[in-house]
Amino acid sequence: MEAIQSDFSAVQREAAADRTPSASGLEGVIAAETRLGEVDGERGRLVIAGHDIERLAGDIAFEDVVSLLAGGAIGDLEVRRAIGEGRSLAFARLPALGDALARADGMDALRAATAHLDESFATPTRLAGAVAVFAAAWARGRQGQAPVAPDPSLSHAADYLRMIDGEAPSAARAAALDTYLVTVSDHGMNASTFAARVITSTGSDMVSAVVAAIGALKGPLHGGAPGPVLDMLDAIGAPENAAAWIEGELLAGRRIMGMGHRIYRVRDPRAAVLERATQRLEQAGVRTGRLDLARGVERAAEGALRAKYPNRPLRANVEFYTAVLLDAVGLDRAAFSPTFAAGRTAGWCAHAVEQRAVGKLIRPDSRYIGPNPT
Ligand code: COA
Repeated sequence: MEAIQSDFSAVQREAAADRTPSASGLEGVIAAETRLGEVDGERGRLVIAGHDIERLAGDIAFEDVVSLLAGGAIGDLEVRRAIGEGRSLAFARLPALGDALARADGMDALRAATAHLDESFATPTRLAGAVAVFAAAWARGRQGQAPVAPDPSLSHAADYLRMIDGEAPSAARAAALDTYLVTVSDHGMNASTFAARVITSTGSDMVSAVVAAIGALKGPLHGGAPGPVLDMLDAIGAPENAAAWIEGELLAGRRIMGMGHRIYRVRDPRAAVLERATQRLEQAGVRTGRLDLARGVERAAEGALRAKYPNRPLRANVEFYTAVLLDAVGLDRAAFSPTFAAGRTAGWCAHAVEQRAVGKLIRPDSRYIGPNPT
């Protein structure tokens, strides 16, 4: 029996040794089949629920993308009602969250607050409502202000801004935020969505999947970049300073935030969508102040990165113009990543539903490279 066992182990070891080398960062590995969206990195095309992002963003509301990702239709009033109800139910939970929303970092606060939710919130509409309420309550709390109760009769985007500002936003600002939330609602097998799918694959619940996804989104290589992009624009100050500043950063071995992407080898199509949305806001009379600067910095960064990495296109990603748009909408930079989470909750939940239907544990292998037992 022992001989058979050791033969078997030898076969296993050989099989493991024969396998292709592990892809660092799982680059190019297909981890799931999905009907939710497609990210074409070569052509710079993003499809969400069968629609090009350029057709959706600016045309439909966040509630519609939640509906589309659930296999429903645009204009479904029941989805809008259910998300509004999710906001109201989450607001009622605020007193029971302890010090969760007192965290200095918005993503820490969001993660802690969401972790308080029970199974009754484990639906895409309730979680979409709850994450927005927690993000808004945290944003107010850091200004020393009391949370504002949601108004379920408003659109999700308008109510989000109202819960932060205490007054209803202009139609232009609400539309700009809607464009943003739709644009970031889903994006293939990004790190936070993958985290949500891994959690779901164990048979765990949707709240746990969203808590894990918030943790993954927090990182600066994922959803933590837009705040630092605005810091960069402030530090550069004027387009003519951009080339020298960027050169200095690259010489110091630092990355240029908002540039580069794991999948896109061309400009991220979402950057163009958000750039246009910022322009529309300007046309509606909202002074953004930073659009020209951002365009100049993007050109300089693209040139410097092309010179440094001639074989790896590093172009603007979604975070670059997220910073410019959300700033123009009037959000504080500390609230950028929590607002990203409010939008991406739609995708996380849709992927959790899809993964649950697969019913298979995600459990990759690892190659042992440590010392052999003596
Ligand atoms: N600025 C400077 N150099 C960059 C860069 C950037 N924004 N993005 C990638 N690089 C360089 C890396 O330093 C690396 O160089 P090296 O081979 O000399 O070490 C090379 O390009 C490959 O980078 P790598 O990290 O392996 O690529 P990736 O596909 O894993 O990275 C990102 C994708 C998004 C993590 C990366 O482009 C990045 O860090 N961007 C800045 C953060 C950001 O904007 N995140 C939001 C993403 S939507």
